[in-house]
Amino acid sequence: MNDMAPINPNSKNPYLKGLYAPVMEEVSADKLEIIGEIPRELHGGYFRNGPNPSSSPKGMHHWFDGDGMLHGVWFENGSARYKNRFVQTHDLKTGGADAMPGIFERSADRDGRTVHYRDTANTDVVYHNGNLLALWYISGQPVAVDAHTLETIRIENFNGKLPRNISAHSKVDATTGELVFFDYALYEPKMWTGTVSATGALTHFQEIELPGPRLPHDMGMTENYTILHDLPVIFSESAIRNRLWQIHVADQPTRFGVLPRKGGAPKWFEFPTCYIYHVINAWEEETPNGTEVVMAACKMVPNGFSPDPQYGAYSAMADVLALRAQPFIWRMNMATGEGREEQLDDAVSEFPVVDSLKTGRKTKHSYHVVFDDCIEQRFSGLVKYNLETGASERHYFPKGVFGSEPVFVAREGGDDGFLITFTTDLAGQSEVHILDTEDMSAAPVARVKLPQRVPLGFHGTWAPGV
Ligand SMILES: [Fe+2]
Repeated sequence: MNDMAPINPNSKNPYLKGLYAPVMEEVSADKLEIIGEIPRELHGGYFRNGPNPSSSPKGMHHWFDGDGMLHGVWFENGSARYKNRFVQTHDLKTGGADAMPGIFERSADRDGRTVHYRDTANTDVVYHNGNLLALWYISGQPVAVDAHTLETIRIENFNGKLPRNISAHSKVDATTGELVFFDYALYEPKMWTGTVSATGALTHFQEIELPGPRLPHDMGMTENYTILHDLPVIFSESAIRNRLWQIHVADQPTRFGVLPRKGGAPKWFEFPTCYIYHVINAWEEETPNGTEVVMAACKMVPNGFSPDPQYGAYSAMADVLALRAQPFIWRMNMATGEGREEQLDDAVSEFPVVDSLKTGRKTKHSYHVVFDDCIEQRFSGLVKYNLETGASERHYFPKGVFGSEPVFVAREGGDDGFLITFTTDLAGQSEVHILDTEDMSAAPVARVKLPQRVPLGFHGTWAPGV
């Protein structure tokens, strides 16, 4: 098996080596070896997206620049199968690494497209209208992927009706089957949001004016509202002028814009300055003073590391990628306009997930990754939070084994269920671990051996019944 990408071994870029090194082969494997027992009630697919350069980068390479690759494991009747496939984006099919610049470079313009960097669809994956959609963090073309084969179906434009792009972390409301999406532009003081029906019809699209260009990473969705982020980490004026990816923290509040999912003017709520990569979940609560829109998210805190000279020109990248965040809850009263921020815990965690079938509805628990104590982004365990009390329980992987963003699959009729994650060890062996969330500290109920290494990556989803 060819596991080696043609990567310069002398590169100081830690995100091209070892646990992060790309895999070149597209593998399909049935009847995987199982240690333990896969719960019979698990029927569906666990999918995870991530950056996987399809050829050797010629210049400076940012971890975020790699071509999108999906890894999937399907469970049915106690057995498991695996596939991995590149996401066949427009830029991969028309030149891969050479098609467009990466974010260490000056951005480019291209006729008819509003993206300025290589659009890799490498960040996130959601399950909508029977297909997977691979999504990109700078907001790009969504790519529809077959949830049974991982073969790319098409660049998704919803019958030609999608006006622009869709960002990673757009949300699917499993109750209605709708996709609630957001889109942003690097150099324009605008954001966009919209809705696609369960059958793929664009049913709403709206432009939102902003005080300046913004770099949101996520959004919130409740049963009736969309929550957009206006965060103070922005491009400097010279970066915009010179089309460079240089960001700074502006002296301005964090704002959340809450607007009806069906359309309407946002009501803006101001909070103390912070950056947020990932929303845990959002929901609505009725109070004596009116409806509160509640958003739980991981609020960034300093990582406590110093830029490490061993990474050379990549030390700043490594420092930014050493994510550290704490769980917070923001309450926004739609009647009074008042906002309240509460800290759930002071422990560090990130990559939060909830039961994806309940995104936008109140959930009792969330599940986050916890970090190895090092500057590289390595997930050494998982933590389960009670979102009402802040109580938590942890699961650590064996020493030298690192996880991915998991998915949570609920047991029918219960608050608990199963956490599923890819793991990879320092020797290059990957597995899927299935935990029973009733006892987070227990050993996995099943470990599934995988036929190749799954590089550490970004976000995942669960597709029931596929
Ligand atoms: Fe993300």
